[in-house]
Amino acid sequence: MMRAKIIGTGSCLPEKCVTNKDLSTFVDTSDAWIQSRTGIRERHLVSSEAETTLTLAVHAAEKAMADAGICSKDLDLILVATVSSDFITPSTACMVQKELGAYHAAAFDLNAACSGFLFAFHTVDAYFQAGICQTALVIGVETLSKIIDWSDRSTCVLFGDGAGAVVAKASSRGMIASLQGSDGSRGEILLCKNRTNNNPFVSTGKEPDYLTMDGQEVFKFAVKKVPECIENLLGQADLDLSQITYFLLHQANHRMIASIARKLNLPMEKFPSNVDRCGNTSAASIPILLDEMHRTGKLSSGDILLLSGFGGGLTWAASLLEW
Ligand code: ACO
Repeated sequence: MMRAKIIGTGSCLPEKCVTNKDLSTFVDTSDAWIQSRTGIRERHLVSSEAETTLTLAVHAAEKAMADAGICSKDLDLILVATVSSDFITPSTACMVQKELGAYHAAAFDLNAACSGFLFAFHTVDAYFQAGICQTALVIGVETLSKIIDWSDRSTCVLFGDGAGAVVAKASSRGMIASLQGSDGSRGEILLCKNRTNNNPFVSTGKEPDYLTMDGQEVFKFAVKKVPECIENLLGQADLDLSQITYFLLHQANHRMIASIARKLNLPMEKFPSNVDRCGNTSAASIPILLDEMHRTGKLSSGDILLLSGFGGGLTWAASLLEW
């Protein structure tokens, strides 16, 4: 059976790097508070109209395609995971298709918040297993900075903008096992309302809301759910923790990753992280980290990687793959 094998990666961060000290000039916070609670030192944020969800996605995609040695006409599927697309329609995936000239590819967006990249990757894997297509581009991209309330210190210090992409090819190697799940009954702990319906019958005149979060509930959810996911997935594949080269978790928060490592009784070296430099980039965090690992030569052919995402919805997902 054909599965998804990653054959190229790419990423793109906005040019502007914003430090904790920069944030402390307009909200009541400090570098010491942010670093001790989250591990974040800086993040990249879009700083001009020329940088958008689309431009970040396209740059990441071009790098992934160059790395994979393919051209746009080879693509037969483009999936974009995002909660912060520039347009409601067309989808970011359709706009990426146009920019790349990937006219043979079907393209659509998928929203599973911070788990979105893995939900998209698993969808591609399922398309490959079904024989529907052979070569796909999977992008996780966010410009969360546009849905953040920049006067709310409890959320604005946590997030960053960016994009990560992979090219996946149908192969007899690659994906070993995957799982995903959702709990819509707990959606309120991470919330961002779309624009208010302003039709003449329900008009309220209210502006769209910004992202709100119950930080402690999110923390508890993640440190309980991620180890469960990891154990389940390893059980499915009949592997044990010691056989995993690296665990690439959604980069929300250093303390969260450290708690998960402790729960699994594993050293932090097994959990590469870039949250100190990127903040939480939601659907983009896992592919950005994967690209950094690949480009800095940290991954070798045959390594077994466990990727795990968790976030709004609530949603969670994990993939086990051979590099
Ligand atoms: N700077 C300074 N003080 C702050 C800041 C800030 N940026 N933010 C909150 N505080 C204050 C609060 O006002 C509060 O003050 P008080 O005691 O006077 O009332 C105090 O710090 C403690 O606030 P808590 O919310 O209890 O802080 P906590 O220790 O829980 O840390 C945090 C908050 C970092 C958000 C933590 O709950 C957490 O890591 N949660 C995980 C959530 C997360 O990472 N979400 C990312 C998005 S979701 C996802 O990606 C899955």
